[in-house]
Amino acid sequence: MITKLKQSLENLVNELEGINTKEELNDIKIKYLGRKSDLIVLLRSIKELPEEERAEAGRQGNQIKKSIESLIEKKSIEITNSKSKEYINQGIDITYPGKQMQLGKLHPITQMYDEVVDVFRELGFTIWEGPDIVDDWHCFEMLRMPKDHPARDSQDTYYIEKDRILPRTHTSAAQSRAMIQLEPPIKVLVPGRCYRNEKVDPRHTDQFYQFEGLVLDENASVKDLKATLTEAFRRLLNNNDIEIRFRHNHFPYTEPSIEVDATCINCNGKGCPYCSKSGWIELCGAGFVHPEVLENFGIDSEKYQGYAFGPGIERFVALKHKIPDARLMLENDIRTLKQF
Ligand code: DAH
Repeated sequence: MITKLKQSLENLVNELEGINTKEELNDIKIKYLGRKSDLIVLLRSIKELPEEERAEAGRQGNQIKKSIESLIEKKSIEITNSKSKEYINQGIDITYPGKQMQLGKLHPITQMYDEVVDVFRELGFTIWEGPDIVDDWHCFEMLRMPKDHPARDSQDTYYIEKDRILPRTHTSAAQSRAMIQLEPPIKVLVPGRCYRNEKVDPRHTDQFYQFEGLVLDENASVKDLKATLTEAFRRLLNNNDIEIRFRHNHFPYTEPSIEVDATCINCNGKGCPYCSKSGWIELCGAGFVHPEVLENFGIDSEKYQGYAFGPGIERFVALKHKIPDARLMLENDIRTLKQF
């Protein structure tokens, strides 16, 4: 048996001479030291030898195993060194410290966008898309805002083609699309970017994100609307104590129209400078879709009713991370973004 092992050691020496890469060396390692190699199989069979031969066979066997291991190790170092020499010859200093990689992260608005999608999906909404560029008809006319309607003044518009083609001023434009393309019952959420010709200041930017919810069925109720928004806003702001309150407002496309406020998460409703001491923060407009809007899209307003809402995503980012100036979210200054 020992003769056989010595023979295998000799073979190894010969084989090692011809190899230059770690991959080849690895194959050799498996061949000589792997579970099915001659050496290991023989070492395992020592226990079957007559008792007086076992100790000596074991000693010699292990010695040969060690020699094989050290030959392979030596070859491995040789290969590494010759690789290094190759680099040095090419003028590459492999001891030079590496460049530190900066790990990227998602923008805080994108993080919130993804959370919005997750939360509303969990609440049974289908996520839907509408284009950024729309026509006046989808964005205003069908939502009961004819030309010269005063409500248009609050949404100063950038026109691509005068009075006809525009980057949407609100995701409500996607409500029109949903009511044309889908049949009730409808339960969709359309997140997306909006554009308004506004002067940029700490509370306003001329580009922002909204998420438009539209729920139409035979028995949608104010209770549903309140429960849905309370649950969604609690999850988005990571705060289970938030209360939601409805105030009267006016939008041409809803009746009744409401403004939705939530407890100020900065002071828990006690009143602070952030909420102008009111204890409440305005979160979005919402309401029950106006029957005339439903009829505009050929939906039977006697049979179907429902609600819609359209919060801005930046407001949630600002509240969650206590960002005082909305412009910080658009500047993409790496020093700001690194903090999220
Ligand atoms: N579109 C409105 C805005 O941009 C928000 C809004 C109000 C959306 C009422 C709605 C709604 O769906 O029903 O300010």
